[in-house]
Amino acid sequence: MIKSKLKSMKVIGINGSPRKDGNTSILIRTVFDELMKQGIETELIQLSEKNIEGCKACRACHKNKNKQCVITDDFFNECLAKMAASDGIILGSPVYSANVTSQMKALLDRASMVLAGNKGLLKHKVGASVVAARRGGAISAFDTLNHFLHSKEMFLVGSSYWNMAYGNAIGEVENDREGIENMENLGQNMAWILKKIHSD
Ligand SMILES: Cc1cc2nc3c(=O)[nH]c(=O)nc-3n(C[C@H](O)[C@H](O)[C@H](O)COP(=O)(O)O)c2cc1C
Repeated sequence: MIKSKLKSMKVIGINGSPRKDGNTSILIRTVFDELMKQGIETELIQLSEKNIEGCKACRACHKNKNKQCVITDDFFNECLAKMAASDGIILGSPVYSANVTSQMKALLDRASMVLAGNKGLLKHKVGASVVAARRGGAISAFDTLNHFLHSKEMFLVGSSYWNMAYGNAIGEVENDREGIENMENLGQNMAWILKKIHSD
């Protein structure tokens, strides 16, 4: 029997919450647990510990086409390089004012602009979005994250419901059993598609 070979794979999770190790990170780590059970490496990036400025609309990245933003004194270029080097990307955000946080939006705006001049950088990677919410706006935030992944030629992974869970104080999302089970299933689905894509 010929065994298929699997290359080592890495998924990065980007937590757009300004609250370190909060509900969004719990959701991303729940997905990570399933990936790690299947031998897939993971790395969590928490934007609470980083600075990403908003896009200045200078459009220099279109002209330069060097896969970088001209703002070099913040975390953006390092973050985009990590995204480009990964096999899968999980974008996570709490809902703020019925959408993603400004930290996550700054990343999406800058990445979209750089990628417009450097097409295909994230092509054929696997992607998923996860959202933590107290009560309302989760679908809008989920849509914003998915719109980014979808327009970058990535394969979006789904679960048994949309990838959101409810909670406000840190840890409360763990009481949302359906939300947590959805994240576990998402991790299993993500591992499944990654293995299909990367087997010989
Ligand atoms: C500035 C701000 C705005 C928020 N806006 C909303 C909102 O529109 N809808 C909602 O359901 N929760 C809202 N929340 C609550 C957070 O989404 C919720 O506490 C979430 O669990 C936080 O996740 P984190 O621990 O990863 O930061 C808001 C919280 C803050 C601080």
